Amino acid sequence: MTGISRRDFISKASVLAGSSYPAMIALGLLKAAPAAAFNLEGKGNGKHVIILGAGLAGMTAAYELKKLGYKYTILEARDRAGGRVWTVRNNTTETELDGKPQRAKFDDGQYFNAGAARIPHHHGLSLHYCRELGVQLETYNNINESGFVYNDGTGPLANKRIRIREIHNDMRGYTSELLAKAIDQDALDRPMTVDDKEILIEYLRAEGELDPDKLYKGTPRRGYISPPGAGDTPGKLANPYELSEIIKSGLIGHSFYNIGDYIYEQQMTMMQPVGGMDMIAKALEKHVGKDIQYKAEVREIRKTTDGTRVVYADSHGKMKELEGDYCICTIPLPVLSGITSDFSSPVLRAIDSVTYYEAGKIGLQFKRRFWEEDDHVFGGISRTNMDIHQIFYPSNGFLSKKGTLVGYYNFGDKAIKVGNLTLADREKLALEQGNRIHPQYKQEFESSFSLAWHKIRYSQGAFATYSSDQRQRFYPALLQPDGPVYFAGEHTTYLTAWMAGAFESARRSVSDLHERVMRSQQVQAELKG
Ligand code: FAD
Ligand code: ALA
Repeated sequence: MTGISRRDFISKASVLAGSSYPAMIALGLLKAAPAAAFNLEGKGNGKHVIILGAGLAGMTAAYELKKLGYKYTILEARDRAGGRVWTVRNNTTETELDGKPQRAKFDDGQYFNAGAARIPHHHGLSLHYCRELGVQLETYNNINESGFVYNDGTGPLANKRIRIREIHNDMRGYTSELLAKAIDQDALDRPMTVDDKEILIEYLRAEGELDPDKLYKGTPRRGYISPPGAGDTPGKLANPYELSEIIKSGLIGHSFYNIGDYIYEQQMTMMQPVGGMDMIAKALEKHVGKDIQYKAEVREIRKTTDGTRVVYADSHGKMKELEGDYCICTIPLPVLSGITSDFSSPVLRAIDSVTYYEAGKIGLQFKRRFWEEDDHVFGGISRTNMDIHQIFYPSNGFLSKKGTLVGYYNFGDKAIKVGNLTLADREKLALEQGNRIHPQYKQEFESSFSLAWHKIRYSQGAFATYSSDQRQRFYPALLQPDGPVYFAGEHTTYLTAWMAGAFESARRSVSDLHERVMRSQQVQAELKG
């Protein structure tokens, strides 16, 4: 480096990149944390890789190939990068397959994440790339005991909203009580010493907050009818619900399973980028964007004698061809299924056979954050057995005036049913069902934007969902290159439905491809020398 000291350079670069740490890693001046290290030896020497799709898998592959000295071109069908990492803001447009054009009418600063929304704390590569690219993260509040459950059905507790913490703590209390009784009566089908029994009962007493007689009689954990305050206001507790009432009212059905408490991927801490999930896509785009051809819809993928040829329609619908040494294809399988190719039969079978889940979301902008102001709900999720399935409250912008929440996030049959409605009817359904949980909906509502992922042209599904049979029969074919074509994308991993899958797959395809190039360079050198 001439004319500027390395230290000066780092401090100048750090201003651009947001902080010196990411800048230094990106410049190769600092090694990444060992868990995220990707230090491949050798250089690609300008070999040309055609990358299909500018989602996270495609852009990450390009980003890493660039570091290794490859030339690449990314063909992207949409007019934007990011794929399923997509933040809907004012003026975002989309026309679903067989749908009407839709344009978001949100206020500036209002947004919702239509695809990926939350990052698990153990998704090392998702966090690594945020760190390296300078994407600022904030906490995503996935678990909120203040959220509501609402069972549309029969039973004394049905058809009204109930705080998650009430049901959650009542169930914890009753199940602890039942188990404590069974232990007392030696009714458990396992040998236990007297000491073991005592220890386990002590644990259950704490877990369920049982009284000295090991009975569950309610707990402040489930909240107050009137909260504690100053002077003569110690707070008034409600009686717990009866176990039979909870069961009869359907509130332990699968719609109300406390997923975030248990599932590995959804345990707190979860994170989100400040300003929208597409900050990750935009950060990658800064590095590789100049080599993305937008509105380039791939129509044909061919193997040639010394590489690959891809035919695509450009932004004017004109057919063009591009030749390269290798190809990394990240196109989602339902879309790839409609593209002409000379892939091998096992690959074609896999492309046509792996199932994708249907999912729908609607963003609803409200004049006022009534869920915060009136109900003290800050982030988290409410659950119901209605078609809307879940309401996601924003984890950003607490206490600000307006807010945009996700009025439904549903899957499978519910997503298909709601996705088949017109845009206006989806909005109507979201408002009617949401209004039963939040009666403020109708008065405070301003505008909506909805989508059905299975009807989004360049996705045609939310994410791959392998059955164990599909995993065994079809998955292996996607892990091998088919001639010069490598496959990447969330569907080529065990991290389907997560950005981490896209990142991991990009690295896997780059390292496989690079190893091949290095081997062939070595053979050529041996032949020469
Ligand atoms: P994509 O993002 O789909 O990229 C593929 C690219 O190929 C797209 O840009 C597409 O436009 C392009 N393409 C398609 N057809 C063509 C063609 N013919 N020619 C050229 N280009 C084409 N992950 C998380 O980590 N956290 C979450 O909370 C989370 N929630 C999610 C919720 C939903 C509803 C969805 C749908 C996904 C969610 N994910 C989440 C998963 C995450 O978004 C994906 O795993 C990841 O974005 C997939 O990246 P990809 O590069 O493999 O595929
Ligand atoms: N990973 C997806 C989500 O978090 C399924 O909603």
